[in-house]
Amino acid sequence: MVKPARHREVTFEPFDAGSISNYEAKFKAAEEVAKMAESGQVIGAGSGSTAFLAVRAIASRVRHGELHDIRLIPTSIESELTITGLGLVQADLAEVAPDWLFDGADEVDPDHNLIKGRGGALFREKLLFEACQLRRVLIDPSKRVDQLGTNFAVPVEVVPRAASVVIAGLKALGATETVIRTGSGKDGPVLTEQGNLLLDCRFESIGDGLEGEIKKIVGVLESGLFQGYAPEIIEA
Ligand code: A5P
Repeated sequence: MVKPARHREVTFEPFDAGSISNYEAKFKAAEEVAKMAESGQVIGAGSGSTAFLAVRAIASRVRHGELHDIRLIPTSIESELTITGLGLVQADLAEVAPDWLFDGADEVDPDHNLIKGRGGALFREKLLFEACQLRRVLIDPSKRVDQLGTNFAVPVEVVPRAASVVIAGLKALGATETVIRTGSGKDGPVLTEQGNLLLDCRFESIGDGLEGEIKKIVGVLESGLFQGYAPEIIEA
């Protein structure tokens, strides 16, 4: 029996509902996936605004007594704080295997390949995709594209001292742009939770094997290309 977390006031809201793009569609997809949760399950929780809404929807079912013994595996500090802030119990991927996962995406192509990582959480998100066979990706209609790379660059997480070597390797794979991501609230580059840089990369084209080719470059931890995972897509 999982001990219920002591409920406390939400102290961290990573997203203000009013500022979430395509809120209605994301909210409906989040409600739909929350209904799929069953008592006793361990569920992987993605990062980003849609995953945040799904965590909130699950927390609401728990509060109403519809679900119990639920544990969520977070994919970022942001999702950890959301989970614990809503009084839910978190689990560690190092200790327990998830029954299924939910997550958002930046782009989805017709074969359900994805670009993820707008929020910088791509490494732990991909770990969860590897650890889990049932992957539920929540989207709004703006995320559908014919070709990956239409609206979003591909983020690549890179060990800082390897940046120049990695940039050369990415250019050799057809990258036309490799921009070090910067943020607000801190000068200089965004650092991931692993202490790495993110390069936002545009490519001449994104072929089927690009994720694997990027991964071979020494100094790359992971990329936000998720090819061949065949997730279930939930679109309200
Ligand atoms: C987090 O780094 C990302 O992979 C998100 O899952 C993705 O950017 C989708 O975000 P939204 O749900 O906010 O659109």
